Amino acid sequence: METLDKIKLIYSFTDNDASNLMQLSGLMGSNANDFISNTYSFIANFDDFSKFLPDEEIRNRHQEKLKFWFMGLFSGTYNNEYLRKLKRIGEVHAEIKLPSHYVSATMNYIRNFTHGIIFRNFPSSGKRDELIASVNKIIDINLDIIISSYISEGKFYIAATKFETKIIKFSSKFSYILDLSLVISLIVATIMVFLLFAFEIYNFAFGGGDFESTVVDILGAMLIVWAIRELLEEEVKKLQGHKFALSAFIGLAMAALLRKILIFSLVPQKSTEVAILGFLVLVLGIVYWLMNKSSKS
Ligand code: HEM
Repeated sequence: METLDKIKLIYSFTDNDASNLMQLSGLMGSNANDFISNTYSFIANFDDFSKFLPDEEIRNRHQEKLKFWFMGLFSGTYNNEYLRKLKRIGEVHAEIKLPSHYVSATMNYIRNFTHGIIFRNFPSSGKRDELIASVNKIIDINLDIIISSYISEGKFYIAATKFETKIIKFSSKFSYILDLSLVISLIVATIMVFLLFAFEIYNFAFGGGDFESTVVDILGAMLIVWAIRELLEEEVKKLQGHKFALSAFIGLAMAALLRKILIFSLVPQKSTEVAILGFLVLVLGIVYWLMNKSSKS
């Protein structure tokens, strides 16, 4: 796992850099409002600025967060919590599908803006060059981590050869078609379970089916419909470019086992099977809970 210490080492970011940046904190704080207005004038030129930041409420919220991030550059404390926050910023931008070039271009603008302040306030070269070098390091570290979150989200891949590019394009189209066929199959499966549902009611009403087993069969069918619905929702999310939540499959397995338990519970001789299935549901339940917990944290 990456730690900020490792990244600092790669960038030769020393305690002296941290202290240089901290020295700039007051000066940058007094320019924070200018920072926001100038940076916003810059990003307002992007074609789809209004698509990503459509109204005053979102812009104000973003400006607050941007200001907080800017002041964080000069806090002097760069630990793993700082790293986590930067990764989060990358993930938020990747999630809204903001082109990574926008972040890089904005970072370039912020670098020049910060240099400008230093140039105006430190006319002689010695200390000024040292401050500029430290600012460059922290901005490069920020850009690196924010953009890495895009890469780890799988948003872009640099192929080495044309053949590789073709293979990648083909496999991504193929996987898209597979996803689409999965969605269609899931819809068909749902319709079939509904037919089963209708058949159970018909059988009970006109075929003299047993009341208890009809109720259990209907409950079982409902469980399966619920689980397929979850799976379908995840599959559609995947088609829209989101991550697939594997926990939906665990949900489906749990629903299938619960259905079996419901059916077996009507047969007294099947109590061992019911106990084994119950244990399996418990194990799957723990896995489901753990997966949901880790995806939230
Ligand atoms: C150096 C460049 C940028 C930095 C440092 C930055 C910083 C941030 C931060 C700190 C957040 C909050 C993340 C969180 O909730 O944890 C955020 C969210 C966001 N950013 Fe940026 N941003 C940058 C560039 C941009 C650009 C160029 C755009 C659009 C043109 C943009 C649009 C957004 C949007 C829409 C959100 C979500 C806002 C919300 O709903 O709260 N960002 N950004």
